[in-house]
Amino acid sequence: MDVGGKIALVTGAASGIGFAYATELLRNGAKHVAILDLASSNGEESAKKLNAEFGNGKAIFIVCDVTKAQELEAAFAKTVKEFGSLDIVINNAGIMDDARWELEIGINFTAVVRGTMLGFQYMGKDKGHKGGVIVNISSVAGLVTGPSFPVYIATKHAVIGLTRSFGLPYHFEKTGVRVISMCPSFTNTQLITECVGRTLDSVEQDHIDKVLSSVPAQTPESVAEGVLHIIRVGENGSIWVVENGEPAYEVQLADQPVKKVSA
Ligand SMILES: NC(=O)c1ccc[n+]([C@@H]2O[C@H](COP(=O)([O-])OP(=O)(O)OC[C@H]3O[C@@H](n4cnc5c(N)ncnc54)[C@H](O)[C@@H]3O)[C@@H](O)[C@H]2O)c1
Repeated sequence: MDVGGKIALVTGAASGIGFAYATELLRNGAKHVAILDLASSNGEESAKKLNAEFGNGKAIFIVCDVTKAQELEAAFAKTVKEFGSLDIVINNAGIMDDARWELEIGINFTAVVRGTMLGFQYMGKDKGHKGGVIVNISSVAGLVTGPSFPVYIATKHAVIGLTRSFGLPYHFEKTGVRVISMCPSFTNTQLITECVGRTLDSVEQDHIDKVLSSVPAQTPESVAEGVLHIIRVGENGSIWVVENGEPAYEVQLADQPVKKVSA
């Protein structure tokens, strides 16, 4: 898909990588972007920044806590009412906070399920629309295991399972909507810089510090370039990684478990 002239909705886009997605979309010719975020975020300011750079009315900020079903539904409806249609959905809002793991599951997974279903509803050919693309933001944490943030890691695995299953031909043939996922590695945002104290009690902070200090962080902009690339070329159901500021690459995951052979 060429993003030129397209209408996009990005959750959690007032700051961090979500804001970089909104910026990169407009820089590449998207017609409009709706940025959804909490009332307490700097969403108004972020929309103003985008409008100053790309032209008045290009971006709107919609107050939306993605854990609130009605707010998320209303935000999709408002985007379509304001801009006429919808082509691209990026389910990006996320937290890394195992100390509040129920909220973390609500934001990182339940809201991604709802955002995917709303994407089908507002873009699906079976609903009278023209098709589109949904990008669900996972993480490299969704491809591995690790002791530090077990619940965060599990939510990101869940996003990959959801994307691969909704990304099967059965759904695409009905909806004309591709569902793909990006897995960024460590990226320089407040999700990482403010993660101190956000672990389960059983995880020692020393361990987290060691992990974080050993991993080079990339910029939100390089992740956004990767997401623009996969919106253009990513096949339905595909899973991609962007790490160390390098171009995004697709990963292949096994369809069947491999039987363990005992020694
Ligand atoms: N930063 C990284 O290293 C990294 C790596 C891999 C994946 N990710 C994923 O990328 C996404 C964005 O992360 P980030 O690093 O930009 O984080 P961030 O904390 O910088 O930004 C997250 C944004 O989401 C918003 N948000 C939080 N709760 C919300 C809610 N209930 N409803 C609506 N908006 C909400 C915040 O206000 C903020 O604007 C997340 O899904 C995260 O898991 C981040």
